[in-house]
Amino acid sequence: MPNTVIEQAPTQVQAPFDVARLRQDFPVLAREVHGKPLIYLDNAATSQTPQQVIDVFSDYYSRYNANIHRGLHTLADEATAAFEGTRHKVRAFLNAEDARQIIFTRGTTEAINLVVQSWGRKTLSPGDEVLISMLEHHSNIVPWQLLAAEIGFTIKVIPVEANGALDMAAYRALLSERTKLVAVNHVSNALGTINPVREMAALAHQHGALILIDGAQAAPHQVVDVQAIDADFYAFSGHKVYGPTGVGVLYGKQALLEAMPPWQGGGEMIKTVSFGAGTTFADIPHKFEAGTPAIAEVIALGRALEWVESVGVDAIGEWEGQLLYRATQAAGRIDGLRILGTAPQKAGVLSFVVERAHSQDIGLLIDQLGVAIRTGHHCAQPLLHHFGVDATCRASFAAYNTLEEVDSFIEALNRVIGMVR
Ligand code: ALA
Repeated sequence: MPNTVIEQAPTQVQAPFDVARLRQDFPVLAREVHGKPLIYLDNAATSQTPQQVIDVFSDYYSRYNANIHRGLHTLADEATAAFEGTRHKVRAFLNAEDARQIIFTRGTTEAINLVVQSWGRKTLSPGDEVLISMLEHHSNIVPWQLLAAEIGFTIKVIPVEANGALDMAAYRALLSERTKLVAVNHVSNALGTINPVREMAALAHQHGALILIDGAQAAPHQVVDVQAIDADFYAFSGHKVYGPTGVGVLYGKQALLEAMPPWQGGGEMIKTVSFGAGTTFADIPHKFEAGTPAIAEVIALGRALEWVESVGVDAIGEWEGQLLYRATQAAGRIDGLRILGTAPQKAGVLSFVVERAHSQDIGLLIDQLGVAIRTGHHCAQPLLHHFGVDATCRASFAAYNTLEEVDSFIEALNRVIGMVR
């Protein structure tokens, strides 16, 4: 299949996008790999961390390390205020109605598992259907499969078109009164396809179904407004929005969260515990946050969101659009290179395979030239198999990547292809 080269250049970023300045916030970008300047193009796996976020950890552990919601002492108060401060920042970041709708988890995977184990276990019965898409990451496939094996509901898969866009006609045809939930990513990690989640939510709701959106690859690149989308659940991870690993977010509509049972038991999620009179549970969000959370990580997530907003999510997305355009144009000219994912709406992900060259070899050799890309199945095996491959090479862009880095990446790619063929 020929590569679709983007016809029209993306609109230029309005205000000057000062990539040189914002790169200074990221100490890791100054390092060398195998004696070459690092060109980090594995941002869909994890983004790098600005100094302002790194500083949160030393500040927290050297000044106010304490467990939250528990003590009456100053350090506990300070830690609790900073922790809860992030909840308010996330509320604003997603335009949620109320901070109580923001549940902290370990990441997107845990957020989805929470919905599966709490909402799914309570709600789904044999005969019910959950629609997922061919584009899903394993984290939005396997938790549903595990529960379906126990309960006996049916998982149906929305197919993709040849360019990696979701087949919306097939989606419409799959929806029925049996559909209880649609679980779909906002942006595909493997191809970069941006899904029309607002339209998908409206269609799901017309059939009385809910929609859960995996926003792990969307939140770093575009403004997310859960009210405008009318999302029932929305999840994202800290480490892909310039924050730390070990923290993520589940947003849910208030009435849904209130009606859902807890999924993990322990401290913090109860009102009263007794052996005889029954145990009662805390209100949301605490009902879903058993045990001591990742306190420093949550505080650091708040700092990361401030960093993102200081640059502007839209400006970041537009800049990445320029990087993607340049990379796509140049890669499209490489003989034998096939781009997977050429949907009209794409985030900054370039996934490709090269004839007579194994993706793993390309990844290893290009690393020797200082370029970090991901190779493999990207935790999306059904999607890759659908396209007839086991692995691709994937370059994914972030705010701090430069046009010169894209050129160096293409030059390195050409060299590597020359070596392996
Ligand atoms: N989901 C992450 C990726 O796409 C890990 O690389």
